[in-house]
Amino acid sequence: MALRNILKDGDAALLKKSRAVTDYNARLHKLLDDMRETLIEANGLGLAAPQVGVLRRAVLVVDTSIESEDVSDQIIELINPEIIASSGEQDGAEGCLSAPGIYGMVKRPQLVKVRATDRYGKEFEAWGEGLTARAFCHELDHLDGIMFSTYVSRYLTDEEMDELASRREGEDA
Ligand code: NI
Repeated sequence: MALRNILKDGDAALLKKSRAVTDYNARLHKLLDDMRETLIEANGLGLAAPQVGVLRRAVLVVDTSIESEDVSDQIIELINPEIIASSGEQDGAEGCLSAPGIYGMVKRPQLVKVRATDRYGKEFEAWGEGLTARAFCHELDHLDGIMFSTYVSRYLTDEEMDELASRREGEDA
């Protein structure tokens, strides 16, 4: 595994639509393994392939509802993911590993259901609630070249960010 460079806001690749994954090969597995290491190192809640410069529909999401001390047990790999159902609404602080230190209020569904395949091409469905639902939405947006700033109603002040940091919420995706 190797760390990959996370592209920062302003990089044209972050505004492009990613193509479907068609080959479930060693190259894909290497990409996912590297993304996993990069996500853990960055202490984020999710990472999308275009954030490391690969315009393919693959994302990782940290599902905090999975009980484990080890974050690597909580990481879900989603290939060619689609949101197939959503309900409710939440308004909360959101950030992005491609926009370090910037947080804004974004409305997202409270609950989302996602259909995707795993790294071998096997289809599965997953539910996400709260922060995990937010991360699913945020990461899937990256696959369509959409940055969270598109939806920000207002940005957080330094004071609010300090408070957020102390509550360990609104982590970067
Ligand atoms: Ni992001």
